[in-house]
Amino acid sequence: MFKLGLIGCGRVVETGHTPALKRLAEDGLVEVAALSDPAQERRKTIGDALSVPENSRYENHTQMLESETLDFVDIALPHFLHQKVTIDCAKAGVNIISEKPLATNLAEADNIIKACDEAGVILAVLHNYRYNPAMRKALELAHAGEIGEVFLVRYEGLGGSHWHGTPSYDPDWRTKKARAGGGCLIDNAYHNIYIAREFMASAIVSVYAQIETYTRPIDVDDTALVLFRHENRGTTSIQVSWGVSAGGRGVREIHGKEGSIIFGREGNPLGLYKNSTGEWTYPQPQAEYENSFAGIMADILEAARSGGPVPTDGLEARKNLEAVMAAYESAGRKEVVKVNIPAPVS
Ligand SMILES: NC(=O)c1ccc[n+]([C@@H]2O[C@H](COP(=O)([O-])OP(=O)(O)OC[C@H]3O[C@@H](n4cnc5c(N)ncnc54)[C@H](O)[C@@H]3O)[C@@H](O)[C@H]2O)c1
Repeated sequence: MFKLGLIGCGRVVETGHTPALKRLAEDGLVEVAALSDPAQERRKTIGDALSVPENSRYENHTQMLESETLDFVDIALPHFLHQKVTIDCAKAGVNIISEKPLATNLAEADNIIKACDEAGVILAVLHNYRYNPAMRKALELAHAGEIGEVFLVRYEGLGGSHWHGTPSYDPDWRTKKARAGGGCLIDNAYHNIYIAREFMASAIVSVYAQIETYTRPIDVDDTALVLFRHENRGTTSIQVSWGVSAGGRGVREIHGKEGSIIFGREGNPLGLYKNSTGEWTYPQPQAEYENSFAGIMADILEAARSGGPVPTDGLEARKNLEAVMAAYESAGRKEVVKVNIPAPVS
């Protein structure tokens, strides 16, 4: 059983990681042995929920690393803290599960990857949307060739606000460039991008983006519209926003030359349309873990046990960040930016 220490006990840890870790602890895969967070209220809430001993709850990660013998840390901090804390953990020789994005820019990501390589520790980044049961099913169908070669991925989610962090820290850190590196693109569209790259299974060769701050009094983007062209001539269209108070219709559509997959059709998690029959079917997702964090963490722990590859390592997470950064560059230059970002290895 792996001993794990949490670094950061904020909102995603409460709503996502805690139920996941409880389940994995029940399955005998992990023990949450320690945690760290400067906010006393967070240490108590998460420590009590995960039965972490009182004397293993620390105000900062340095004390935790010095006092505990851990196999893994789970880092869930505001983006600007990822670089320093991840490198500290690598130097302490502890394997790392990191929240996305790996860092706020590519130079920081490179420093993190180098430190982990030098220390010989695992670096796994939580691209957890792949483990949502409906998403898993859709990816399985697409990769099995059910809709033929994919040529168009649409992934849109328009909302009226950023996700607020815990009130015990700074609930609006995501709206501050110095803390988040960017806005809805680096925070939300980040997920849409790795999912689209998986469905298209073809390198991104160019990026065109319009990224603006339209309605929110914040110094990062509240709306990002991004088009990728892929090596196979396919197109990915991603639209995200924190600036549409009414909200928009969530769109998740994958179109192939022989059919389509559309999420949420007729109240089903996903629908599969085959051009050959002209009919819809509704394959039911089945997954061992409903919670996407439990799914990806189970695979990371299994990779550590067997010595196999983790689901998303630092280099793969860097590729996703490269697509994010190319979109910011395109919007800044108002031009198409050429890139060569390989599809993830599934
Ligand atoms: N994968 C997903 O689906 C998903 C969803 C939400 C958030 N996230 C990611 O999780 C991370 C955290 O987001 P959040 O919404 O939980 O933020 P949050 O603000 O709610 O939590 C951050 C926590 O870190 C603590 N903290 C600050 N400095 C610290 C330090 N030096 N050492 C230890 N703890 C420290 C704060 O007190 C706070 O409790 C971000 O990187 C975000 O991108 C991922």
